[in-house]
Amino acid sequence: MNILLLGSGGREHALAWKLAQSRLLAGTEDKLYAAPGNPGIADHATCVALDVTDHGGVIAFCEEHRIGLVVVGPEAPLVDGLADSLRGEGIAVFGPSRAAAQLEGSKGFTKDLCQRAGIPTAGYVRTASLEEARRALGGFAPPYVLKADGLAAGKGVVIADTREEAEAALADMFGGQFGAAGAEVVIEEFMAGEEASFFALTDGATVLPFGSAQDHKRVGDGDTGPNTGGMGAYSPARVLTPTLHGEVLERIILPTVRTMAEEGTPYSGVLFAGLMLTDQGPKLIEYNCRFGDPECQVLMMRLESDLGELMYACATNALASQPPVRRSRQTALTVVMAASGYPGTPDKGGQIDLDAAETDGAKVFHAGTALDEQGALVASGGRVLSVTATGSTVTEAQAAAYAAVDKIDFKSGFCRRDIGWREVARELAGEAG
Ligand code: AMP
Ligand code: GLY
Repeated sequence: MNILLLGSGGREHALAWKLAQSRLLAGTEDKLYAAPGNPGIADHATCVALDVTDHGGVIAFCEEHRIGLVVVGPEAPLVDGLADSLRGEGIAVFGPSRAAAQLEGSKGFTKDLCQRAGIPTAGYVRTASLEEARRALGGFAPPYVLKADGLAAGKGVVIADTREEAEAALADMFGGQFGAAGAEVVIEEFMAGEEASFFALTDGATVLPFGSAQDHKRVGDGDTGPNTGGMGAYSPARVLTPTLHGEVLERIILPTVRTMAEEGTPYSGVLFAGLMLTDQGPKLIEYNCRFGDPECQVLMMRLESDLGELMYACATNALASQPPVRRSRQTALTVVMAASGYPGTPDKGGQIDLDAAETDGAKVFHAGTALDEQGALVASGGRVLSVTATGSTVTEAQAAAYAAVDKIDFKSGFCRRDIGWREVARELAGEAG
């Protein structure tokens, strides 16, 4: 069949790489398209320009090119209802409906769902005005966790140490800092613990666990500096022991999928749960309705099942007929190389030579790259490359990923040098003990 993948980041390059290996694309006539794609994705797909906000245009493309499955990479088109428009025309889509994508699109929606379904999460209050929010702050102790309700490109969360900082942040949010996303603000109890991510595929009824990961959100070594979209990740996250994994599935993921179906908004696609591992057990921080970036890169690196078949089964309510997801026992680790200036304004146009980087089994996924007029590879965004390798331990995967990073010539780029540090420290302590 023909498949259309939407998106242009490292996540989508990893998806394109894995989809290209699918039996669904094995026929000589089968084609993978990507919109808009990037120079790395172009190795596996025909890149086309499509405006994903123009649902009619996407539908017309699908009809003209006999697309049998659309895979939506990022959250915005899902929250915008693109999957509904496509399904309305009988086109199979991997990704939730607009109503189900509220799990990411509205923090208040998810908190209310957790309350109805008894899912462990931080206590909270939804507020719709600055007045109301100021009053509600009195019911919380510092540090204050404040969240713009809607999509804010990962920037809508403020953790304020003092009441003054919290009030100032609330004034900014209600003052329009995040546009319409801040028309409502959720105030939450602060949870202490280590974070981990859990991924599951679902067609609304059947749930297949897909793997775990840990991300590094801060820009600097030692988890310092401003937040980013993610500077590196590894999978699996061994802090999610088999016991905790089972608890997350039973107490968080399954009740979510069940409740969404019971309430008439079945969720299909990938459910990405951000978790806090607290003294009282795992609690939900937030849901995303798509794969994480760069978590997707490490999940794809370990995936042994056929991604296309799994996604098609999610899209056609046939997940029950799929065997459990097969994953390599190896650890995968990815290091993001960003353009200097990121997460502020990144330098554009920096030359990149990565020809030597993949010689030892590493994979370099492209994010913000472009070809210049001479056809040379240059940086064109904040996060530019995602350099991914495997090993039998996190320590080995880390060494392999940095060996590949060191073979890349990207003078205007930088990366963290400590991706995986928590696990590397635990592995060292384990050896010593
Ligand atoms: P979110 O966008 O909801 O994932 O939040 C971004 C980050 O803020 C999370 O990855 C956590 O590090 C932190 N965070 C969010 N909610 C809480 C909370 N209730 N307690 C402690 N940290 C939180
Ligand atoms: N890396 C975090 C995210 O994709 O939301």
